[in-house]
Amino acid sequence: MCGIVGYIGYRDAWNVLINGLKRLEYRGYDSAGIAIVNNTCSIYKCKGKVTDLERYIAGNNVSGTIGMGHTRWATHGEPNDVNAHPHKSYHGKFILIHNGIIENYAKLKEKLTSSGIKFQSETDSEVLVNFIEYIYEKGNINAENAVRLALSKVIGAYGLVIACTDEPDKLIAARNGSPLVIGVGNKEYFLASDATPIIEYTKSVIYLNDNDVAVISKDGLVLKTLKNDQQIPRIHQLDLDIGEIDKGGYKHFMLKEIFEQPRSILDTFRGRVSTDIKSLHLGGLFNVMDRLIGARRIIIIGCGTSWHAGLVGEYLFEDLARISVEVEYASEFRYRNPIITPDDVVIAISQSGETADTLAAVKLAKKSKALVLGICNVVGSSIPRETDAGVYTHAGPEIGVASTKAFTAQVTVLAMMAMLIGRMKNVLSEKKYKSYIKSLTEIPGKIEKILAYDNEFKKIANLYKLANNFLYLGRGYLFPVALEGALKLKEISYIHAEGYPAAEMKHGPIALIDHKMPVVVLATKDSSYEKIVSNIQEVKARNGIVIALVTEGESTITNMADHVLEIPVTDNIFTPLLAVVPLQLLSYHIAIMRGCNVDQPRNLAKSVTVE
Ligand code: F6R
Repeated sequence: MCGIVGYIGYRDAWNVLINGLKRLEYRGYDSAGIAIVNNTCSIYKCKGKVTDLERYIAGNNVSGTIGMGHTRWATHGEPNDVNAHPHKSYHGKFILIHNGIIENYAKLKEKLTSSGIKFQSETDSEVLVNFIEYIYEKGNINAENAVRLALSKVIGAYGLVIACTDEPDKLIAARNGSPLVIGVGNKEYFLASDATPIIEYTKSVIYLNDNDVAVISKDGLVLKTLKNDQQIPRIHQLDLDIGEIDKGGYKHFMLKEIFEQPRSILDTFRGRVSTDIKSLHLGGLFNVMDRLIGARRIIIIGCGTSWHAGLVGEYLFEDLARISVEVEYASEFRYRNPIITPDDVVIAISQSGETADTLAAVKLAKKSKALVLGICNVVGSSIPRETDAGVYTHAGPEIGVASTKAFTAQVTVLAMMAMLIGRMKNVLSEKKYKSYIKSLTEIPGKIEKILAYDNEFKKIANLYKLANNFLYLGRGYLFPVALEGALKLKEISYIHAEGYPAAEMKHGPIALIDHKMPVVVLATKDSSYEKIVSNIQEVKARNGIVIALVTEGESTITNMADHVLEIPVTDNIFTPLLAVVPLQLLSYHIAIMRGCNVDQPRNLAKSVTVE
């Protein structure tokens, strides 16, 4: 949450910063601001989006080659001009942008207030910048030492870029819990919450670790720990292309990412599936395969859409690998004293690899000596660096705030893992294993077929765009997809929607059904088909509107439902990969028709790096 960007070098900093903020805006969009650093330092900030900031600044002289920018997702203090970053210290010597939360800010603020320091904003970040200046002035030390000393007294999470007007040729960056990447150019450095603003300038990056402090000038970078121990920076090469972070001709990132799914699923299994000999290979798990095969239990943790993918994983691991599975919200898991044993395997699922609750749950699980694995999309992010091993999803950058292609890539990885473990445990027959591999390779083509029906989904969206409530029902593998369909609709269109296991409907939600209630029923041909036909009848008997998602060629439900969405035939275990696509498109079109900003839904942000 919150996007931070910094630049020091020979270019016009303003351009680098404003473009960087546009790339990072998916992380937060309550307010935005930029500081051009020199020995006075000019700060421009306002409530609203990066385009509002551009309008606000127009006509000002913003020349300079050092600066920082911030796009905010409010935690402490409402989104307004004053609470926007950058924040300046009380005597104006320090300027700071911050992503994260300073948990002991109230205590620090009390101390500073009692020393006569006045605050302009309601933010924890202003407390920090004032605290740094307070230490600097009291201790008569340099900026770097003041930052280090102040941070050693701070409890909480931060990704920070700091400048000091007494030392205007430097930027100081620090990280604890909130991601920060440094791009290394030729006599220039870039700082950002993730690599997307950096990629157009350089592919060489340094990922800061927790408790790292970097002091950066045009001519070099010194990396130390909070305790002042010198570190050797490790430079990684980004495997990311600029084209991957543009809209590529689509109106919205979300639409582009939905349409990218044939490619992102293919990329996720490419090189891991041998189509000729029909076998699977997951290099990231090679060294831990014995522990996976011997696992007593798998605990899957995640949040939001990643948690839904985890629920699909539960069916997959139990079905194919015969391992008992628990799926937990990371936020609940970490606070309820969970029992984890060394023969458990904990799998953390996260697109961003930075979700604070999932990361904290990973750290907790590691203490129990269980094998901790990650299924993440962002290479080099915090969760893959904390886990013992894992599998990247290779979905490519997901910029739309609502997760789409990340979900299908996560399910693809979970399916491959379950197939591999099942085969190695010999609980999945070779014949079935090979036929699943074949089915998996056919999924991208089948999604292409579904995408070609986009206009049909649009027509249904048009009919129900004004509904106040939606219900999504599914059974078995499609129950998590019902949850995901409901989440997609509510988060981008602001229509209240609930997902339910179809059979549970009669235990309560059926009371909601009337002639105004669209009910999306996921009713593909599987073992519970007959049961779901009965559930549809129950809805129809109460005058509900049934939008049924069926297997192509199906006729019974087609005759009963008000509308049908068809998906191609596939194995039961892969239906989530197909069934979710029409639901994503339905939500997208409804949201657009209601005039909502689908890429930046209100109150949300990508990468939830606060608890
Ligand atoms: C929903 C959505 C969120 C994320 C959740 C976890 O569309 O995007 O629910 O799935 O915040 O994020 P990651 O996967 O980055 O840990």
